[in-house]
Amino acid sequence: MKITPIVGLVVGSLAGLGTAFLQPRDFSSNDYYVLHIDRDVHPDHVASRLGLRNEGQLGELPHHYVFRATRDEHDVVRRAVQDRRRKRSLGDLDVLDGVKFSQKQKLRAPMKKRVIPPPPAGLYPAKRADTADANALLRQKSVMETLGISDPIFNEQWHLFNPVQLGHDVNVTDVWLFGVTGKNATVAIVDDGLDMDSNDLKPNYYALGSYDFNDKRPEPKPTLSDDRHGTRCAGEVSAARNDVCGVGVAYDSQIAGIRILSALISDDDEAEAMMYDFQHNQIYSCSWGPPDDGKSMDAPGVVIKAAMLNSVQKGRDGLGSIYVFASGNGAAQEDNCNFDGYTNSIYSITVGAIDRKGVHPYYSEHCSAQLVVTYSSGSGDAIHTTDVGENQCYSGHGGTSAAAPLAAGIFALALEVRPDLSWRDMQYIALESAVPVDLDTGEWQPTTKGKQFSHTFGYGKIDSWALVETARTWKNVKPQAWFYSPWLHVHKEIPQGDQGLSVNFEVTEDMLKEANLERLEHVTVTMNVEHDRRGELSVDLISPDKVISYIATTRKHDESKEGYDDWTFMSVAHWGESGVGKWTLIVRDSTVNDNNGTFVDWHLKLWGEAIDASKATLLPMPTEHDDDDHDVTTTTTLTASTTSLPPIPDATNTGVATTLPSDHPERPIKPSNTPSNTATGGATSETGTEAAEHEATSAPSSWLPSFLPTFNVSSATQAWIYGALGLILAFCCGLGGWLWYVRRKRLRNNPHDAYEFEPLNEDETEGLNGGGEKGQRRRGGELYDAFAGGSDDDDDDHRSLVSAESDDEREVVREKQKQSSRLMGDQ
Ligand SMILES: *[C@@H]1O[C@H](CO)[C@@H](O)[C@H](O)[C@H]1NC(C)=O
Ligand SMILES: *[C@@H]1O[C@H](CO)[C@@H](O)[C@H](O)[C@H]1NC(C)=O
Ligand SMILES: *[C@@H]1O[C@H](CO)[C@@H](O)[C@H](O)[C@H]1NC(C)=O
Repeated sequence: MKITPIVGLVVGSLAGLGTAFLQPRDFSSNDYYVLHIDRDVHPDHVASRLGLRNEGQLGELPHHYVFRATRDEHDVVRRAVQDRRRKRSLGDLDVLDGVKFSQKQKLRAPMKKRVIPPPPAGLYPAKRADTADANALLRQKSVMETLGISDPIFNEQWHLFNPVQLGHDVNVTDVWLFGVTGKNATVAIVDDGLDMDSNDLKPNYYALGSYDFNDKRPEPKPTLSDDRHGTRCAGEVSAARNDVCGVGVAYDSQIAGIRILSALISDDDEAEAMMYDFQHNQIYSCSWGPPDDGKSMDAPGVVIKAAMLNSVQKGRDGLGSIYVFASGNGAAQEDNCNFDGYTNSIYSITVGAIDRKGVHPYYSEHCSAQLVVTYSSGSGDAIHTTDVGENQCYSGHGGTSAAAPLAAGIFALALEVRPDLSWRDMQYIALESAVPVDLDTGEWQPTTKGKQFSHTFGYGKIDSWALVETARTWKNVKPQAWFYSPWLHVHKEIPQGDQGLSVNFEVTEDMLKEANLERLEHVTVTMNVEHDRRGELSVDLISPDKVISYIATTRKHDESKEGYDDWTFMSVAHWGESGVGKWTLIVRDSTVNDNNGTFVDWHLKLWGEAIDASKATLLPMPTEHDDDDHDVTTTTTLTASTTSLPPIPDATNTGVATTLPSDHPERPIKPSNTPSNTATGGATSETGTEAAEHEATSAPSSWLPSFLPTFNVSSATQAWIYGALGLILAFCCGLGGWLWYVRRKRLRNNPHDAYEFEPLNEDETEGLNGGGEKGQRRRGGELYDAFAGGSDDDDDDHRSLVSAESDDEREVVREKQKQSSRLMGDQ
């Protein structure tokens, strides 16, 4: 393992230069692999060791490289790395020991554009009211004169100025009159192309931030007859003030086009697209996602996730790229944006739609991850914008596809005024300035920060004036911090009908202090539920302040038998809460039939503002294993009490009191791996001993007598398991605290340092809590290995990196299986 940082640096920076170095791909005769390699390892050495060609760094993602191989049905890299691991006890050094992750790339269907879906049966298009208000027309005329707007369809652009339904527009004209038009702000439209030759877009086109990942060309020019979506979105943001069509909401902003939706694509290309030119492209507007069919449950792959996090951490000089996502158009199919891993990411601002009458349109999805809404199609009209062609306009743009770019353009206005806003500042400003709409629907609930939240409208509609004014005086928030609960085991069948299975977790002030977390922004819940028909499940999260997030809702078309598999739901409804107190999760199976299910386990993560900015760190890059540490556990307290709940908006659920059978709670049973008892998930740097104490005190005494699970195996096997378990338990209780301490010192000669694996990549260490968690999780993995039988991991000296990876490998397989089943679902 030779250290060649200089060469690495040169290669890395060349690869980072952009278009000139993006290699064309030929999947018909080649395979491509993304490898995450140790920083000390030179990619060329990995390439020559494996007989691959180094195609350069994966965009701006450090230590990730793309390699080309001749086509082979097998995953030759995984095979070689596995092979090496089997032989590593021989003791030689091998460059493959520095491979932290590998993924063979596959062409898959691109994400789906969020165009207007056909209205559900029985919904007839509303007639547009045509009587404009006389005073409003005068006002419109004067605005146009003052600003020199002579664009021919400006007066059709009701979303910018609505003279018919007064107040139902983005309230932007006074922002323009005060000189704020998006100057020096850049939005990238990630879509099916952007017609940079349109006379409406040409003046604002930003070529350096543009790229066509489908055809590997520098220009995102649309080529297919269907490639109109991106251009229409771009027009909403940045159509120039001229004599063509209308204007964009930020008509002096710069606009880039990144083309990814017009051909099959691989994860590495999508990843690169999501961070393309991230120092200059400030906002990425994304009007697409997994199919809005009410049955997909799909999230970006780990390489794409890593790219987005990288862009949020390093883009815009560290202020963070701003991702804006359309919430999705599947509401009529009972789809919900929490089943889409892009829209429910904490890194994206999820934008839903309202129509020109201020009504929720039938397509716009509900969810607790939705931050705001803005105008789009419905009530007989749509968004009027630019189209593909030199001089073409379009009057039928809509769906949440049209809402996201409008929001992105308004955020560009805020960036003109305050280019120093971080990605989180922008989320704060969006929700602080949002205006609740349609207050009669009863969907609104008061939140701790004195706002109203609705799963249909988020915090309300965007008011450009209010948003820009809020931005002007905004005091930047401190860096991000987070608290992770340990995995909370439930493993209990979900009662059907009006009952729910209610579990909770108590967050103490000390835990949050330890996590450096002052107040909440996002809350995520990762969970595992087995169920015969996933669409019958719903999940509510109730905060200590009694704010309720309907994080999962029933979906009539979702017949999947997969349940929730390490799925992460997100809510923005708890913004501003302290987080301290009892968090309750209620899983319901409201349909009484043969499709039943089991709530396996869950994991609560609180994200927010740091107490002490100087102690804040960056979150480690995601890995495939972020949710694998199920064996590192605390048992969830199951409540046997009745919880009264307000009605659920979803009509298929009736508002019910939640009760739990009064029998004592289920015993902790591990979902997949062998149990071990080490420290908590790492949010708090508790030692194993402390965690054990915590477990003992937080669990009701009633289950202690039946503490020992049977695992549904023979008594001989049980005896074996308990032998192992006993060893682990004794070992960890005794040594847990001590190990935690020495872990940092890396006592190489310690015979137990097999358990002391720590990632060597400093990007992955010392994330405030995440870093600690990682080390602990890997220890859990090692314990599992050590007792799994047949383990040949007995060479302590060379295992530091590799040993954890042997655990990883199984997960690579699992991940691949997941991915391929996902792909097939996409077809
Ligand atoms: C719209 O902008 C004006 C300033 O032009 C502001 O006074 C008003 O509060 C904003 N909102 C609405 C709903 O009119
Ligand atoms: C434009 O933006 C860049 C980067 O955000 C900033 O450094 C520069 O000062 C801005 N220029 C103007 C004229 O605001
Ligand atoms: C459904 O119930 C049956 C019988 O109680 C049980 O064997 C099965 O494991 C349950 N299915 C799930 C997914 O929990």
